[in-house]
Amino acid sequence: MNREQFLKQLGMVAVATCAGCGMYACSSETEPAPANADFTLDLTESANAALNNVGGSVTKNGIIVARFSTTEFVAVSVACTHQGTPVTYRNAQKDFYCSNHGSRFSTAGAVIEGPANRPLKQYNTELTGNQLRVFS
Ligand code: FES
Repeated sequence: MNREQFLKQLGMVAVATCAGCGMYACSSETEPAPANADFTLDLTESANAALNNVGGSVTKNGIIVARFSTTEFVAVSVACTHQGTPVTYRNAQKDFYCSNHGSRFSTAGAVIEGPANRPLKQYNTELTGNQLRVFS
């Protein structure tokens, strides 16, 4: 490889690197928590089967719903308030966790550990038979 070929390849790497930066910036923007919510999860449907077990969770419409105990559910916005990565529910810790940079949130959505510094939005839940309503 001569000097000219080397510089051309270097230029392609720089362009590819910059394009990657741009894509990362777009994907890291914080998604807003849904301002209003009102939907029902049918716990007899296979898509919602995880909610039949304590510690299970389902994400729908930008909201993660988790079964906290045999009788209690919690629902919060799924997008981490740091950079928008979806959080997961951890029943052993009773928290919502963001694997991207390690933020932790309480079941009420409050920040336990940063770098996130804003809470997740909490939603109401109401179980009637096998129908779990999630609403603001
Ligand atoms: S995106 Fe969640 S901690 Fe950074």
